Amino acid sequence: MKKIGIIGFGNMGSALAQKVAQEGFSVVAVDLTPEIVEKALDNIRKTLREAVERRIFKPDDVGEILARIHGTTDISEVKDCDLVIEAVWEDMVVKKEVFQKLDKICKPETIIASNTSSFSVDDMAEAVERKDRFLAIHFFYHPAKNKLVEIVPGQKTSRETIDLSRRFAWLIGKTGIVVKNSAGFSVNRFFVPWLNEATRILEEGIANIATIEKAGKDSLEIGMGPFELMNITVVKTAFHAAAGIANQLGPFYAPSNSLREQAASGKPWPLEGDVDEVKLQPVAERLLAAAFFTASSLVQEGITNIADTDLGAKVGLRWPIGPFERMNSIGTDKVYNMVEKLLKKWPSIRMPENLARQKERGEPWDIRYVRYAKDGDVGRVIISRPDAMNALNDKVVKQLDEEFGKAERDPDTKVIIIETAGKAFVAGADIKFFIDCIKEDRLDDSYAFAALGQKVLNRIDESKKLVIAKMDGLALGGGFELALATDVIAATPKAVMGFPETGIGIYPGLGGTQRTSRFIGKELAKYLIFTGRVISAKDAIDIGIVDYVFALEEIDEKIVSLLKQKKLVPNKGKDTDKLPPEWQKIKGLFADKNIDAWLNSKYLDSDDPLAAKTAKIISEKAPIALKLTNRIVDVGYEKPLKDGMKEELAHLIEIFSTKDALTGLTNAGKRPKFEGK
Ligand code: NAI
Repeated sequence: MKKIGIIGFGNMGSALAQKVAQEGFSVVAVDLTPEIVEKALDNIRKTLREAVERRIFKPDDVGEILARIHGTTDISEVKDCDLVIEAVWEDMVVKKEVFQKLDKICKPETIIASNTSSFSVDDMAEAVERKDRFLAIHFFYHPAKNKLVEIVPGQKTSRETIDLSRRFAWLIGKTGIVVKNSAGFSVNRFFVPWLNEATRILEEGIANIATIEKAGKDSLEIGMGPFELMNITVVKTAFHAAAGIANQLGPFYAPSNSLREQAASGKPWPLEGDVDEVKLQPVAERLLAAAFFTASSLVQEGITNIADTDLGAKVGLRWPIGPFERMNSIGTDKVYNMVEKLLKKWPSIRMPENLARQKERGEPWDIRYVRYAKDGDVGRVIISRPDAMNALNDKVVKQLDEEFGKAERDPDTKVIIIETAGKAFVAGADIKFFIDCIKEDRLDDSYAFAALGQKVLNRIDESKKLVIAKMDGLALGGGFELALATDVIAATPKAVMGFPETGIGIYPGLGGTQRTSRFIGKELAKYLIFTGRVISAKDAIDIGIVDYVFALEEIDEKIVSLLKQKKLVPNKGKDTDKLPPEWQKIKGLFADKNIDAWLNSKYLDSDDPLAAKTAKIISEKAPIALKLTNRIVDVGYEKPLKDGMKEELAHLIEIFSTKDALTGLTNAGKRPKFEGK
C-alpha cells in the first residue's frame, strides 16, 4: 500500500490524513467544499508547526509530510488509491452514497474501509459490489495519538483484505485487533455501558457525580472518571453510542434518562461536589460489574478474544490493566457476585456462560499473550503485549513455550516466524517481577524464571525447523536474547538492540553472554554488555549479529519470497574479520589482555578519545555485574553452549543478592549510583 484516500476531512479525517502522511504514505483527502479542505489543511499545518516547536519533527520533515497530503473536493481523485478510508458524518444515507461512488471510481484492487463507530459493516457493504474488499477500520479519537484500531470484517470480507488492513495498521504504528461485526465492536461494547451505568447510579440518587467519579477513577486506576470522560468527548457522543448499541442489543445498553437529558442540554456534566467515602465501594463495584458483564458477554459471543479485549482497554482507553486482568485480580468468584447483583435489575438477562464457568471451576481467566497462527507452511508465533512493549514475564515465557510447541508439532509448518505486536520487538524482562523477588526474599523465583527462559530459548535454538525473528523497534535484554536464539534475525531499519543489564546491576541471563560471543567473538560481546550500547540495525549487520535488514513495508514479502527461493539462510557471525574500522578498533580494545584495565577503570585517562569515552560509560555500570559478565563469557566460551548457559544460571542468585541489583532495578532509566556491593 502506498496511496491512501480519505473521504471526509473533518475531525477524524484530518488527524488521520496527517498521521498517515507522517508514516510516509501519499494521501488524497476529500471533503465537500474548498473552504473545509483549506481549513483542514490549515489545522494540519498548525499541528505540525507545534510539533516542530516541541522538537518532534524537523522543519524539513514538515515540508515532506505536507507535500504528501493532497486536499480536494473531487472524489474521483482517489481512483488509484490502494485503500480509501471513509470518515464522513455518521449518517447511513451519506455513507452509502459515498461507498457507491467509490465502488465505481476506484480501481478493482482498492480496499474501501469505513471509520464508522456504530453502523453494521454488512449493512454498509450493501452499497458496494466489492464486498470482499470492504470492511470497517475503526480508529479512536485522537487518531494521530491513540494507537488502537479495531479491524471489523463483514461476512464477505476476504482474508486478504483483513491481512492487508492489519498490515496497514502496523505500518502506521497502530495496534490492530480484529473484531466481529457487532454493536459497539469491542471497546465501546464495555466502555459505553460503564459510562452509562455511572449516569444510572446518579439518576437513582445512589451517589453524587463527585463520588461516582472518584469510585470510577480509583477502581480502574485511571486519571479521569466517567463524567469527565464524557465531558471531553462531548456528552452527546456517549448518548448516541449507547443508543446505537441498545438498538441491536436491547435495553440494558440504552442510555439512561439523565444521559439523554444532559446530551440534549448540550452542556458538560458539573463535576464539583463532595465525595461520600462510604459510598465509594458499592459504587465502584457496580461500575466494574457493568464493564465485567459486557466484556464477558462479548467474549462469550465470539466477538473477540480475552487478550484482545484487554488490549483494547489498555491501548485504546489507557486503562493500566484490562477488564479480564482486573477480574483475575479481584477473583472470579467475587466478580460473579458483583455481576449477579447488577443483573438483579434485569431479569431477562442471563449471566454470561463463560463467567459462570470460571466461577464454577474457581479459575481465573486464561489470558493469552502469545498465539500461534498458520499461514500456508509458515507458522507465526506472535507475542502480543504491546502495551508493555512485549516484555517477557513468567506468563509470556510459558505461553511462548506452549505456542512454539504447537508450531513445532504442526507437520504442515516448515518455518516458524517469531514476531511481536506494536512498535517494539521485546523490551526485555519485567523488571517489577525481579524487584518483587528481591524485596520479598524470593530469589528462587528469579532463578526459576531465568531457568525457564533459558529452557524455552534453548528449545527455539535447537528446533529442527527454521526459526526466524522478525525484529522491529526495541529488542533489549531478554528480547535481544530471544532473537539470538533463532536461526535468522530479519530486522527493519528501525530495529535497535542492546544489553542494558549491567546498567541496572545485573547481567544478561537468557544466553546473552553466550550466544553473543559465539556470533561476534568475546571482545565485541563484552563491549556490548559492559557498555549497554544500543546498536542500530545497520551496526548489527556490520558486526554480524543480525542476518538481514529489510524496509518495514516490505519485510513480510521479502521474508516469504526468500523462503520460497530457499535463500533465507543464517548468515550472521561469518565475516567478523571484515569489520568496519570503528568496530575493528573496539575489538582490539576489548582483547583479553586489556580486560583488567577496563574493569579497573584504567582507560578513564586514556589519550585515545574512544577508549576514554567508553571507560566513562563503563565506570557508571555495576562493578560486580561487569566482573561476573567477564567471567561467564570467558568460562562459557570454552564449553558447549548448553554448559555456558548453565554458567549464567550459576551466578544468578549471587547477582540478585547484591545491593547494586536492587539499586539498579529500582532506578532503571535514572542512572543509578552503584557501590560495588
Ligand atoms: P466531522 O463532522 O468532524 O467530519 C465529517 C466530515 O465529513 C465533514 O468535514 C463533512 O463536511 C464531511 N462530509 C460529509 N459528507 C461528505 C461527502 N459526501 N463527501 C465528502 N465529505 C463529506 O466528523 P468526525 O468526528 O470526523 O467523524 C467522522 C466519522 O468518524 C464518523 O463516522 C464517526 O462516527 C467516526 N468516528 C469519530 C470519532 C470521534 O471521536 N470523532 C471516533 C471514531 C470514529
